[in-house]
Amino acid sequence: MRLVISALSVLVLFSYAVAYDPLDPNGNVTIKWDVMSWTPDGYVAVVTIHNFQMFRHIMNPGWTLGWTWAKKEVIWTMVGAQTTEQGDCSKFKGNIPHCCKKTPTVVDLLPGVPYNQQFTNCCKGGVVAAWGQDPSQAISSFQVSVGQAGTSNKTVKLPKNFTLLAPGPGYTCGPAKVVPSTTFLTPDKRRKTQALMTWNVTCTYSQFLARKNPSCCVSLSSFYNETITPCPSCACGCQNKKNCVKTESKILSMVGVHTPKKDNEPLLQCTHHMCPIRVHWHVKLNYKDYWRVKIAITNFNYRMNHSLWTLAIQHPNLNNLTQVFSFNYKPLLPYESINDTGMFYGMKYFNDLLMEAGPTGNVQSELLLQKDMDTFTFKQGWAFPRKVYFNGDECMLPPPDSYPFLPNSAPATLLTFPAFIFLLLFLLPVW
Ligand SMILES: *[C@@H]1O[C@H](CO)[C@@H](O)[C@H](O)[C@H]1NC(C)=O
Ligand SMILES: *[C@@H]1O[C@H](CO)[C@@H](O)[C@H](O)[C@H]1NC(C)=O
Ligand SMILES: *[C@@H]1O[C@H](CO)[C@@H](O)[C@H](O)[C@H]1NC(C)=O
Ligand SMILES: *[C@@H]1O[C@H](CO)[C@@H](O)[C@H](O)[C@H]1NC(C)=O
Ligand SMILES: *[C@@H]1O[C@H](CO)[C@@H](O)[C@H](O)[C@H]1NC(C)=O
Ligand SMILES: *[C@@H]1O[C@H](CO)[C@@H](O)[C@H](O)[C@H]1NC(C)=O
Ligand SMILES: *[C@@H]1O[C@H](CO)[C@@H](O)[C@H](O)[C@H]1NC(C)=O
Ligand SMILES: *[C@@H]1O[C@H](CO)[C@@H](O)[C@H](O)[C@H]1NC(C)=O
Repeated sequence: MRLVISALSVLVLFSYAVAYDPLDPNGNVTIKWDVMSWTPDGYVAVVTIHNFQMFRHIMNPGWTLGWTWAKKEVIWTMVGAQTTEQGDCSKFKGNIPHCCKKTPTVVDLLPGVPYNQQFTNCCKGGVVAAWGQDPSQAISSFQVSVGQAGTSNKTVKLPKNFTLLAPGPGYTCGPAKVVPSTTFLTPDKRRKTQALMTWNVTCTYSQFLARKNPSCCVSLSSFYNETITPCPSCACGCQNKKNCVKTESKILSMVGVHTPKKDNEPLLQCTHHMCPIRVHWHVKLNYKDYWRVKIAITNFNYRMNHSLWTLAIQHPNLNNLTQVFSFNYKPLLPYESINDTGMFYGMKYFNDLLMEAGPTGNVQSELLLQKDMDTFTFKQGWAFPRKVYFNGDECMLPPPDSYPFLPNSAPATLLTFPAFIFLLLFLLPVW
């Protein structure tokens, strides 16, 4: 029975992910090319990557952008980014292009490059914040000078077949489309200029394309039942189990063990779920008009410090969230009228960095929620979250039949109290 349910929940998890993200239906990464000037053999464009996703940032080691040129274009120069390969420029005498490949692959520069290689919003190692967390940092841009291209808006051919790794797979990009030219305001805001031509490419994320297994799981507990419902076994796939590390292992003190790998391959602590991240939701206290939840996020990956982490949660009582301790909170309102989804993220310099696995590899918060007496109940797992995402990937919840049950003769809950006890309890202190 449980097996069937957990198999079903895997199906549900991934069938959602294929179509679009129900918690962020308009989320996308838009790549905009603004042609700023024509040159004798092409144009100079500013390429801007906007991360319009509310809670999915582009983490270390950052984005990699690729495309296929429509004709014989070359890249003369690039500022604020670089191609990973120059390709075959042997036909060129004198000036040698930055890249002659038909399908260039571009990456951001690292922080601290010389000023003459920098560009606005560049040089962050390809790390881009989520829109919901920090719109001012949800942007990355570079300048490219293209040769052997058209030199007017009639002759330019748009690049094709855009690909985006951010940082791994998962994104699918649509075709470039000419859009109304971007307008720019001069710094004194007294004059407007505009790009000579603009085109946009929109890329969307699917967890199904990104990975075979979830990358996080959820465990649950409550004050009214001592059962702790653990993450489902092998929630994140158990194929890494043979390489996992026991907490007291000597390997952990070896030099270089914690160094992140280029492909972000994790080094996991051995657990029955084998997830790099676990989110625990504990229903902690019941007051007359309020209830209290404790949330803890634990990192089981010895090779990852999560900067800019986000936690997106759907729960029907979030519309009456009264206080959040030690995390930031922002309602997401994916469907305008329904206020049941929000994102949590760390406070700057306090807990915005979720450290690698170990004694400091966790962050915690408590929520105070006001009860709406018409809907509030501890029954049937109502107090537990409907969906949980860590860093934009949906976490696997335990099967519903394993949630901590409200005992039938529950002395801990007010709702099943006879009315006179209820009155006694809450009016007595007043007397
Ligand atoms: C991309 O996201 C932005 C912001 O949510 C939205 O306005 C825009 O319509 C989206 N673009 C596409 C093509 O979905
Ligand atoms: C093109 O992308 C920019 C953001 O990069 C966005 O502001 C603009 O609305 C987009 N244009 C269209 C027509 O989608
Ligand atoms: C190209 O430029 C002409 C004017 O030079 C303008 O009327 C036209 O709208 C532009 N087309 C595009 C696709 O930007
Ligand atoms: C688009 O790019 C992908 C990956 O680089 C490649 O496999 C595919 O063949 C390309 N398609 C076209 C039409 O160029
Ligand atoms: C995480 O950060 C700490 C402190 O800055 C550092 O010592 C450690 O090496 C980092 N771990 C990883 C996996 O980058
Ligand atoms: C959504 O709920 C939060 C409290 O959790 C509240 O602060 C916010 O005003 C609500 N927004 C809307 C549009 O109802
Ligand atoms: C809960 O939130 C909704 C919408 O924000 C509001 O209409 C309602 O009055 C709130 N309930 C309580 C008990 O505050
Ligand atoms: C606590 O929850 C578990 C798991 O759902 C259930 O099996 C158990 O009966 C519950 N305990 C009590 C005292 O109701």
